[in-house]
Amino acid sequence: PPFFEYRDGTLYCEGVAARDLAARFGTPLYVYSRAAFLAALEELQSVFAEFDPVICYSVKANSNLSVLKMLAAHGSGFDVVSSGELRRVEEAGGDPGRTVFAGVGKTDEEIAHALKSGVLMFNVESEAELDAIDRVSREHGLQAPVAPRVNPDVDPQTHRYISTGHKESKFGMDITRALRLTERARDMAGIKVVGLHMHIGSQITKTQPYADAAAKAADLVATMRGQGHAIQWLNLGGGFGIDYRGGEAQPITAYAAVMAPAIRASGCRLALEPGRRVAGNAGVLLSRVIFTKVSGDKRFLIQDAAMNDLLRPSLYQAFHKIWPVEASMQPPDIPAGHDGSQPGASDAWDVVGPVCESGDFLAKDRPLPPLERGDLLAVFSAGAYGMVMASNYNTRPRPAEVLVEGNHARLIRRRETYDDLVAAERDCEGDRQEGL
Ligand code: LLP
Repeated sequence: PPFFEYRDGTLYCEGVAARDLAARFGTPLYVYSRAAFLAALEELQSVFAEFDPVICYSVKANSNLSVLKMLAAHGSGFDVVSSGELRRVEEAGGDPGRTVFAGVGKTDEEIAHALKSGVLMFNVESEAELDAIDRVSREHGLQAPVAPRVNPDVDPQTHRYISTGHKESKFGMDITRALRLTERARDMAGIKVVGLHMHIGSQITKTQPYADAAAKAADLVATMRGQGHAIQWLNLGGGFGIDYRGGEAQPITAYAAVMAPAIRASGCRLALEPGRRVAGNAGVLLSRVIFTKVSGDKRFLIQDAAMNDLLRPSLYQAFHKIWPVEASMQPPDIPAGHDGSQPGASDAWDVVGPVCESGDFLAKDRPLPPLERGDLLAVFSAGAYGMVMASNYNTRPRPAEVLVEGNHARLIRRRETYDDLVAAERDCEGDRQEGL
């Protein structure tokens, strides 16, 4: 079922009209559909059921406590990359025993926190990190479950900024280095190698990269067992692509079909780290047009959501559908390979925010129905890497977030205030008065 849908000329999130949410909570506003999150999670859980999987939702995609709480209550595990994210999981009632801890720069404090919490495993990204985990575990009289992160050197065929599984990546290790690491790990009292981790990139809409990665993973599991490690977990990461334009996403069954033979051959339990696939299409960003403006041949729609609220278009030239909240039809699909822009088209707008940067845009040359000051816009597919990447640039308070369940909407993060923004500075005012 569509969780965001136009009915009677206006956009609904489940049973609630987006216009009513904008009126009640203001704009810019992130609006999430509870049912959309859960449908995506449950699809992953059921399609991979054969492998008794732990779906470790990638907290970085959308880390709102209410979102984590809802996912935890539906059996989700978690993928965290910092002590802060682990604390969120713990505060939300998530199970650290179903949580994996990734990241290339874990500090001793973070390692100790994760050890004491009892995380399922550490995704180890380098030899130096392995040494640190071994040392910290022994200091605590513990043994850390680890899974080396291996770069299978496959081409994920996605944006270079979010492709991570190639040989020369900041993340993980090439196969030779990984095997050298597991060789050394045999003598480490603080380390128990229990799994293998791969994550090849993000927004991957092809299945072949997963087939290649899974096959290499199964081979490696066998080699590592030959070294004497009891490997029980195959963690194949996240990266499953979603529809931004419409029509580009693969069904989860398509990924599963190509991965299954290798997972089966490995005899391992499966862990996955989906972020975008769970959260991306569970959210929209609502904004309101402040002014329209003509400049040379260009027409600008200046609305109250900016790059500080949703960074993806500015940072990655990412495409998000944008459409009026009041409209008689759904936003049209934009075929892959076309960016949706129609320079010079009489109905095309640059959708921009108030931030003082030329790079502050949500869309360029985008054909839209007629719009004027005061109208509401919806930016689609904004549930993942939206609010989590928001900043206070230009001293702009970050948006509020609302979670919709059926006919009911609940505020899950209040809009920031000016006082929130300056609080940490005011705490230091005393020093300044002393002339420092
Ligand atoms: N596991 C690891 C080790 C990761 O690095 C990531 C994402 C994930 C899982 C989750 O990937 P997903 O299933 O969401 O594709 N800010 C960018 C995306 C950065 C992804 C970073 N790593 C964006 O807005 O497109």
